[in-house]
Amino acid sequence: MNVSILGTGNMAKGLAAVLSKSGFAVTLGSRDAAKARETAATLGATVSGASLKDAAAKSDVVILAVPFAAAAETIAAAGGLAGKVLVDITNPLTADYMGLTIGHSTSAAEEIRKLAPKAKVVKAFNTVFASVLSAGGKVGATPATVFIAGDDETANQAVAELAAKAGFNTLQAGGLKQARYLEPLAGLNIVLGYGKGHGTDIAPAWLFAA
Ligand SMILES: NC(=O)c1ccc[n+]([C@@H]2O[C@H](COP(=O)([O-])OP(=O)(O)OC[C@H]3O[C@@H](n4cnc5c(N)ncnc54)[C@H](OP(=O)(O)O)[C@@H]3O)[C@@H](O)[C@H]2O)c1
Repeated sequence: MNVSILGTGNMAKGLAAVLSKSGFAVTLGSRDAAKARETAATLGATVSGASLKDAAAKSDVVILAVPFAAAAETIAAAGGLAGKVLVDITNPLTADYMGLTIGHSTSAAEEIRKLAPKAKVVKAFNTVFASVLSAGGKVGATPATVFIAGDDETANQAVAELAAKAGFNTLQAGGLKQARYLEPLAGLNIVLGYGKGHGTDIAPAWLFAA
């Protein structure tokens, strides 16, 4: 199965590495196709690079791995992403990373759905630091949890299967509106990691009695 990732930064590279090791073919998309190809070449034979539009065309599942502020231009350059499962990993961070620019009454995920109304938007991976991806998706020996929220159950299940195949624990959180909780959860993770000095080899998870 091919998965496309829009962006060539820390999260794009980390996700490409984890997914390709788990048997997925990955296409990175960049504003600069040559940069995407160069980045892909450092990540192994099953990772390729392309323009945003060509990368998006290659897969049914497209991961948006750009700053939230760049979502509109990226989705437009990728051709609108109609019909795609669009995995939104963004956090709408303030410049100092210690707060969110939007929340409570909306979320980055819901704003992204307005930008790609014909895509099936699923919030996922936004609480997993890039350094955890670099460590194979684990904190110590424990797989990080990927929280999943979206309004299309089939798309949510597809993202859960992808994350599970890549070795993560998964937890379905409900509809896309639950991104209003998942984005502050990532914000707390960043405050703990950077603000409180716990570092970035941390990840939120949930406890259950059984
Ligand atoms: N870093 C983390 O630990 C972490 C964890 C969870 C979620 N996230 C979220 O994941 C997303 C990506 O984070 P990241 O850490 O991978 O960021 P990054 O290293 O800065 O990479 C972002 C990528 O986005 C692309 N991009 C497109 N338009 C852009 C613009 N106007 N300005 C800057 N970059 C632009 C760039 O790729 P091209 O130049 O190739 O187009 C760039 O490589 C963000 O929304 C972030 O909030 C990050």
